[in-house]
Amino acid sequence: MADTADVWALSDLATPWCLRVAVTLGVAEHLARGTTKIDDLAREADCDADSLARVLRHLVDRGVFEEPAEGEFALNDAARVLVEPGALRGNLGLDGWGGRIAGAWSGLLTAVRTGRPAYEKVFGLPYWEDMDAHPHIAASYDAQMSEGGRAVPDPAVLIDGGWEDVRHVVDVGGGTGAMLAETLRAHPHLRGTLVDLPRTVARSDEVFASAGVADRVTVSGQSFFDPLPAGADVYLLTRLLLDWPDDQAVALLTRCAEAAAPHGRVVVDGCVSPGRTPPRGGLMVMILTGGKARNLDQFSALAAEAGLTVTASGTAPSGRFIIECRPS
Ligand SMILES: C[S@@+](CC[C@H](N)C(=O)[O-])C[C@H]1O[C@@H](n2cnc3c(N)ncnc32)[C@H](O)[C@@H]1O
Repeated sequence: MADTADVWALSDLATPWCLRVAVTLGVAEHLARGTTKIDDLAREADCDADSLARVLRHLVDRGVFEEPAEGEFALNDAARVLVEPGALRGNLGLDGWGGRIAGAWSGLLTAVRTGRPAYEKVFGLPYWEDMDAHPHIAASYDAQMSEGGRAVPDPAVLIDGGWEDVRHVVDVGGGTGAMLAETLRAHPHLRGTLVDLPRTVARSDEVFASAGVADRVTVSGQSFFDPLPAGADVYLLTRLLLDWPDDQAVALLTRCAEAAAPHGRVVVDGCVSPGRTPPRGGLMVMILTGGKARNLDQFSALAAEAGLTVTASGTAPSGRFIIECRPS
């Protein structure tokens, strides 16, 4: 049973912020390179030594970093994770997209009071416009999505039959192409089209080249609310619908239905939970864009509005719930 101390611990904001500050200042990297004394650390991180020491001692008390001698810090197992390449550092660093995500939480009360996204109130522009206005934040967002996307190529994503009969797949909102590249690499007979915003597809060349699939890919830098490349066999929507409120989710699915008609399929990978139970998660997108998590019943209703019928659904080896639809 939780007591007052447990609730205080749950409400702690110091630890999440201290972690982010340490990551942003690159403390773990400085330690890994052998800089251990607080004055040297502060000089390399370009910050105030006393303040940094206080932040690091808070983290030491929470099990991240060690202070083997007064004023001298060291990595421990938890801190070593911060040196590893991957999504963690990008998500925690306050200079890029991680800073937007951290700061956006201050809009939660507004989002709950109004039922509307609160990002503009916090940062001055709606989420996607803010990305347009700040190229380094957008680049950091694309990099984070790409880290996540790389982890998920799921050869079994097609639940109704395999990839053998598929000739052409369109990855709608496919980011910088990490997942499409892996899918094409796994299926040498397949052609692919990447659809995403122009600034994002502009970062895909290297992804496709290093996967050795560039000759089987076309890219379309466009909004997915505009007509999509038509006539492909499969339109893939990975981790996408969560970002959008119902009316825009229907608009996006409608573009897919139009492009897939009459024989193509629309495959939704992630962001929908099976069955009818109230979906969990999606709090961040509630603040950012007004998006939401949905269950299969809720998704099926939106799909029907968009002219799609759910024809199959199931859980892939990745653990993600996949839904397949066909134009009604
Ligand atoms: C959550 S990410 C998912 C990326 C990718 N499917 C994945 O799983 O890694 C959402 C993607 O939608 C793209 N996006 C947002 N608005 C868009 C629009 N209007 N038209 C095309 N792409 C858009 C973003 O650039 C981003 O790449």
